Amino acid sequence: MRPSAPIPTATDPLPDFAHPDFRRDPYPTYRAMRERTPVLRGERGAFRFSILTRHADVVAVLRDPRMSVDRPFQPRPPGDGDAVDPATLHPLARALRALSRIMLFRDPPDHTRLRGLVNKAFTPRMVESLRPRVAARVDELLAARLAAGELDVVRDLAEPLPILVIAELLGLPLSDCADLKRWSDPLAAMLDGSIAMQHLAPAVQAAGEVIEYLRGHLEAKRRDPQATSRVPLEDVELCGARFEKGREVGLLIGAANRDPDVFAEPDRFDLGRRDNRHVSFGFGIHFCLGAGLARLEGQLAIGSLVARAPRLRLAVADGDLAWRPGWLLRGLTALPVAV
Ligand code: HEM
Repeated sequence: MRPSAPIPTATDPLPDFAHPDFRRDPYPTYRAMRERTPVLRGERGAFRFSILTRHADVVAVLRDPRMSVDRPFQPRPPGDGDAVDPATLHPLARALRALSRIMLFRDPPDHTRLRGLVNKAFTPRMVESLRPRVAARVDELLAARLAAGELDVVRDLAEPLPILVIAELLGLPLSDCADLKRWSDPLAAMLDGSIAMQHLAPAVQAAGEVIEYLRGHLEAKRRDPQATSRVPLEDVELCGARFEKGREVGLLIGAANRDPDVFAEPDRFDLGRRDNRHVSFGFGIHFCLGAGLARLEGQLAIGSLVARAPRLRLAVADGDLAWRPGWLLRGLTALPVAV
């Protein structure tokens, strides 16, 4: 039997987020954190932070204007002994500056202005009007693989679909999708705090190229974010705890989404769940702009796959599925299925 993922204790308060068992199934650890250390304080070198896991606490922070998304972007030491290669420093500073200008990292009033500019591209009516084109893309992606009798749901569907759709939305030639994918992977990895600093060079390179390509429109693809964070602009009393000015507050979305105070049988996969107040797309003023589009893509991709492959089954043993190294954006590296 595998050892279960470590849980926080008084002497070792921070769970080992890099543990393979945590990556495979973080939920027992999240449960222990919700129950025992709902406000967990930690330090990694000079970087000091708090981590919240309860749904009510995560929502309270996301709706509080004193909790800012605007922070000085510093590469975070994931462990001792990681050093930044000086050769990456200058472009790294440039990439981090560019990242800090996107609306996800701006507070009002800048955020209000930026969001106002792009909102109209994502109205429910606009998203709905994309349905036939998204369905056509899904059909094209599936046709070749279904004929072959097997596919990797990650490589053949989940990864290319959002890139094809965003390329179409931005009016970019579909032939550039390979470049967009090449750029978005290291950028998504950079958003994941667990990446080692010496691995930032590819993200820096990608940021430079994509900035040039999109002339200022930086787009990082997201997978399944399990966490986000805020920084208190002042000392804040909230959720029965005190949060010091500047000390980053990590919000574990994956833990909040399994909170039994809000969800009946939270660990049960229930497609028909009612009163589903999950925070997978965030909450408050930064609520995911692409939520409607992501839902449309998911509906068409999964719906079409299940309809066209009624004998769909895993092509590998459950235990052999591999997870991506980060945990902020948790996801499988591959999902091989037989049809
Ligand atoms: C399943 C797919 C997706 C998930 C789970 C997801 C999740 C999230 C979450 C949790 C946030 C809030 C982060 C925070 O408050 O700190 C967010 C914000 C955002 N998302 Fe998504 N997202 C997805 C797909 C997309 C897509 C397809 C797009 C664009 C086409 C998009 C664009 C954005 C933007 C622009 C923001 C920032 C909004 C703001 O700051 O006002 N997302 N997303």
